[in-house]
Amino acid sequence: MASMYFLFLLLILIIPILILIILTIILKPRPTKIPIKGRHVFITGGSSGIGYALAHEAASQGARVSILARNVDKLEEARNSIRLSTGIDVSVFSVDVRNFDDVKKAINEADPIDVLICNQGVFIPEEFDKQEVDTIKFMMDVNLMGTFHLIKAVLPSMKSRKDRGPCSIALMSSQAGQELIYCDERYCIVTMLAHLVHALPY
Ligand SMILES: NC(=O)c1ccc[n+]([C@@H]2O[C@H](COP(=O)([O-])OP(=O)(O)OC[C@H]3O[C@@H](n4cnc5c(N)ncnc54)[C@H](OP(=O)(O)O)[C@@H]3O)[C@@H](O)[C@H]2O)c1
Repeated sequence: MASMYFLFLLLILIIPILILIILTIILKPRPTKIPIKGRHVFITGGSSGIGYALAHEAASQGARVSILARNVDKLEEARNSIRLSTGIDVSVFSVDVRNFDDVKKAINEADPIDVLICNQGVFIPEEFDKQEVDTIKFMMDVNLMGTFHLIKAVLPSMKSRKDRGPCSIALMSSQAGQELIYCDERYCIVTMLAHLVHALPY
């Protein structure tokens, strides 16, 4: 009798746990993999650092790649280096993301964009109380307003596109600088991403 009672208790425990495991497996979100071969990837801050590495990787995977930054020499250097190692010719745009009209012009001149990576960024590491207001404004303008400019410029064409498959926008943020203004505007980037989810058709 005692063993029956024990078995009954075990079943009561095991069945819900089994159901939970099955539900976890079925409902677990899985990333969608969309090959970027042949798609147009537009990377800001693509002339150096992380942006350059992304541009190189996208070109290696057969994407059509555009990079945007201010310094023409650095852009040309990045273009040559990617061409040498991948054989892919990258388009370059010398633009300051702080200027909305210039950003709009570059995006309209480029081929329709499938993937926009807003990666440009400046970081002047100083403690908040020692940081000049102009420095804070500079970082805000490049990192935050620049990203707004890019998204505002690209959204109309992304939303009206037909039969070109899914499009996406990636925003670069950072966990660094918890006591610096850098963190505040990088945090805004995350909030911006949440709004974007509602703005994009896919
Ligand atoms: N490196 C890290 O450890 C790290 C960590 C976390 C997050 N991040 C983020 O990752 C991104 C890339 O970082 P990184 O270290 O690779 O940067 P990086 O090597 O300094 O490159 C920054 C890029 O942004 C461009 N840029 C700067 N100001 C611009 C402007 N006003 N308009 C257009 N382009 C501009 C630069 O080119 P020009 O100067 O020629 O314009 C350059 O191509 C940034 O958003 C950064 O906040 C970096």
